Amino acid sequence: MDDETITLLGLESSCDDTAAAVVRLSGGKSAILSSVVAGQNDLHAAFGGVVPEIAARAHVEKVDLCVEEALAKAGIALCDVNGIAVTAGPGLIGGVLAGVMCAKGMAAATGLPLLGINHLAGHALTPRLTHGIAFPYLMLLVSGGHCQFLIVEGAERFGRLGGTIDDAPGEAFDKTAKLLGLPQPGGPAVEAEARTGDPARFVFPRPLLDRPGCDLSFSGLKTALLRARDGIVAEKGGLTGEDRADLCAGFQAAVADVLAEKTRRALDEYLSTGPKIPTLAVAGGVAANARIRARLEGVATRAGARFVAPPLALCTDNAAMIAWAGIERFSLGHRDGLDLVARPRWPLDIAQPALIGSGKKGAKA
Ligand code: KG4
Ligand code: ZN
Repeated sequence: MDDETITLLGLESSCDDTAAAVVRLSGGKSAILSSVVAGQNDLHAAFGGVVPEIAARAHVEKVDLCVEEALAKAGIALCDVNGIAVTAGPGLIGGVLAGVMCAKGMAAATGLPLLGINHLAGHALTPRLTHGIAFPYLMLLVSGGHCQFLIVEGAERFGRLGGTIDDAPGEAFDKTAKLLGLPQPGGPAVEAEARTGDPARFVFPRPLLDRPGCDLSFSGLKTALLRARDGIVAEKGGLTGEDRADLCAGFQAAVADVLAEKTRRALDEYLSTGPKIPTLAVAGGVAANARIRARLEGVATRAGARFVAPPLALCTDNAAMIAWAGIERFSLGHRDGLDLVARPRWPLDIAQPALIGSGKKGAKA
């Protein structure tokens, strides 16, 4: 496969980003020829969360324009790619359908192979695109819609060690920002406030740390924050800047503690399988948080594992990761037909029981 050149077009539309990208593997080296992401933040801002119908309509309007732009930026014609990879789930079904229908239309018109990609596999395989890391590695996916630990054993072999049973951490950051009157997306806003705050003034719960295993829970944290906020408001009639910063610092410290401890346990479990090059990789918007990232890196270093975090633009939703996952699937000889279905739920590890709950940004899978 080292001499082979594979160029794929990728499409992503499972949440609130419409994206298209062209990725090439040539002589064993990967290159992103283009990656176009059209966000929808402004369309959903007034609703405090992603509205599935609005998202789906926006995907329908934008997806072909993104494809056109991605091909133009890559300097390539559609007929010159080797196949079309598209997110076929899990996610908001209207959006997933918009991408799948567009990909099917192009595949039918050109005769190009079609590859249905699991969105979570796209995130989980990204460190191979950016850092060329070898299987098996431990992946922590932490975003607004996902939170799970996966042992990535192969391009289509994933073992889930645990995940959130309710909210994803990014969702908790977003809700915290909303409760404190900070702008969306909440993660960067809460992180900025927390910088000047005292993390010890409000001690929030560390959910599920008292239970064995790697499952996580974040919904109780938001309730604790709401109570603390209401307590201050009842006492003083409102929040000062210092109160807000302390609340953010306390909340962020709780999330960081939980993620660090659960990651330590997941690493233990992964290391017990005797990987040749022990590696912890992270992906998802929450991995952009400097405090959290430093804690995770510390956990990896103490356990003697390499720490890999793809650049932020490839940690958050994008189509380069879908094109790359398509290349991995294509290399294994897999192809999908025009009967490819869009799936709202699609767990990577079907041997594990389904995670409970469905977040603001869709099914947890
Ligand atoms: O991966 P992503 O772009 O989208 C998906 O959820 O798929 O992640 C977005 C999430 C949002 O909830 C956002 O608040 C959070 O990641 N986020 C952060 C930070 N930057 C983004 N959370 C904490 N700290 C940050 N610096
Ligand atoms: Zn995602």
